[in-house]
Amino acid sequence: MKTFGIVSLLVLGVYSIFNYVFVNHLSNSYVFDKVRLQELSQQAINNNPDGNATNIFLDLSDLLVKEYPEWINPLNFDDWVFNTAGGAMGSMFLLHASVSEYLIIFGTGTGTEGHTGIHFADDYFTMLAGKQLAYYPGQIEPSVYLPGDQHHLPKGHAKQYAMCSNSWALELAQGWIPAMLPFGFLQTFTSTMDLYSLYKTVEITAIDITKNLFKGKF
Ligand SMILES: *[C@@H]1O[C@H](CO)[C@@H](O)[C@H](O)[C@H]1NC(C)=O
Repeated sequence: MKTFGIVSLLVLGVYSIFNYVFVNHLSNSYVFDKVRLQELSQQAINNNPDGNATNIFLDLSDLLVKEYPEWINPLNFDDWVFNTAGGAMGSMFLLHASVSEYLIIFGTGTGTEGHTGIHFADDYFTMLAGKQLAYYPGQIEPSVYLPGDQHHLPKGHAKQYAMCSNSWALELAQGWIPAMLPFGFLQTFTSTMDLYSLYKTVEITAIDITKNLFKGKF
């Protein structure tokens, strides 16, 4: 009973410190604006009325480089990696990673379904193509997100989600990014054994976080 009390206090203490730093410091480091990202996504979607996801990505990458010239890795098709987490599998391209933010194109060619994970970060998921479904326990009818819609998963929340085949999104996370990484990596060891994807993800993420730290971006 005593041990339980001490552990509870410790957990509460660590949570309070993280929350204090989150509210008072991390949010000052943000460079991306979720509203602007949604507008740019809608612009790229409107430029491609046929819904061709490849061309939407290329247009969006150009718009992002113009809007955030210091902070974006322009899109290519060599540095995509698989990501398997929460039972869902997709692939991603890293546009930006720093201690307080990441911006990726994430999605799936085949469709996928799983747990969002619980993160110390707010997540803004702007659909570019296809369809995403998501719901909280007790919510019987899922929310549906179509191209141009933005799905906000608040810090600390969890949902079940699904993406249809050929569904893609621009995903912005703002918060403690390093704390999200164990969720992203754990299934390598419990299931996929895809060490190549793990290695490549760690490599591109670590390089970008370090590069941005040298530019003074936390
Ligand atoms: C989408 O555009 C790319 C070129 O950017 C092209 O290679 C591909 O075939 C197009 N897809 C469809 C379904 O038209």
